[in-house]
Amino acid sequence: MMRTRPLKVALLGCGVVGSEVARIMTTHADDLTQRIGAPVELAGVAVRRPSKVREGIDPSLITTDATALLKRGDIDIAIEVIGGIEPARTLITTAFEHGISVVSANKALLAQDGAALHAAAEQQGRDLYYEAAVAGAIPLVRPMRESLAGDKINRVMGIVNGTTNFILDKMDSTGAGYQEALDEATALGYAEADPTADVEGYDAAAKAAILAGIAFHTRVRLDDVYREGMTEVSAADFASAKRMGCTIKLLAILERAADGESVTARVHPAMIPLSHPLASVREAYNAVFVEAEAAGRLMFYGPGAGGAPTASAVLGDLVAVARNKLAEATGPGESAYTQLPVSPMGDVVTRYHISLDVADKPGVLAQVATTFAEHGVSIDTVRQQGRPDGVGKEASLVVVTHRAADAALSGTVEALRKLDTVRGVASIMRVEGE
Ligand code: HSE
Repeated sequence: MMRTRPLKVALLGCGVVGSEVARIMTTHADDLTQRIGAPVELAGVAVRRPSKVREGIDPSLITTDATALLKRGDIDIAIEVIGGIEPARTLITTAFEHGISVVSANKALLAQDGAALHAAAEQQGRDLYYEAAVAGAIPLVRPMRESLAGDKINRVMGIVNGTTNFILDKMDSTGAGYQEALDEATALGYAEADPTADVEGYDAAAKAAILAGIAFHTRVRLDDVYREGMTEVSAADFASAKRMGCTIKLLAILERAADGESVTARVHPAMIPLSHPLASVREAYNAVFVEAEAAGRLMFYGPGAGGAPTASAVLGDLVAVARNKLAEATGPGESAYTQLPVSPMGDVVTRYHISLDVADKPGVLAQVATTFAEHGVSIDTVRQQGRPDGVGKEASLVVVTHRAADAALSGTVEALRKLDTVRGVASIMRVEGE
């Protein structure tokens, strides 16, 4: 039966995403009413700059006092699209204290304080939904939290940052260096003026922490996620990757250990074979590859950022939370019952592609091979090439290893650096997805 009294929504933040949320709520009002079973009414919009012209939004709804909006007594659902830690954290907590369910797109906050926010929601019998926090429009949080709730997820490997994927894709397709590709991303609006959060992997690490918690039913903190950015990836790395039939992606990789007793979470650039589904994810798109025990391999693909795509995910959550409200129920909360330890990066089993500049003289290859053997690392392939500028004195040696613990691989690299015959380690890159 249709309820005529509307559910009242407070929109906290009205930037790129918030304004799209308001627009879709208005233009799709009738459909949303039918899908929910009651109208949803935008009852207030909290902003920092009230003087800014906001097309399609009734100016009387605008306020700079988000706290007062949440405390006024008639709000059912708050949508937080402010981003960052504060004031978002205090506002979400205030919302729960006042019996308000929350839809948030805030990956940084959820990665840092997800456990406390879930606890606050549960204590008040309210919902906390955050589909938009990870991979924008791509339905991922709900499929992992709900559709796969009966399965066992063993591995998640994803491209969860569009900016870096755009840059790496440009480097791959045009042969450009990192800076040139970054400049293009900035000019086209894919990279922010300060791209640190994206290119150093902080954004992807926050998403990785959220996904790992959901995938493994365990608490994974932001600090538990090993993180390496992609600023050191060079045109030479792409040339090497191509020779191996690979490309390079910034990946978030979450794995359950073979014995099931621990998990790992990491973000770093890696070579993946061109045959892997993630290799064909171009431009600023995101994609997440999930391996579950019964379901097998699943791939989620789509736009990971942008106003309208992110608003789509927010609106989906709004419908779900509104339906729960009408049913006087709550959706799934945090599921962290397994309490699995998160192992350090050194325990991760992976493969390395190592490019060395070495002296071109007898015994060097044997010396390098011995160093790998001393660390228990088995070599898969070796390619040596005399360097034209070395005129018979220097060569480039590219070694690809078999799988080994990351600690053993990094120990090998440290030992290689100390050899007199190794002039330099030109690049080190993990190889994944085989
Ligand atoms: N800067 C992010 C990206 C936006 O490039 O994917 C979404 O977090």
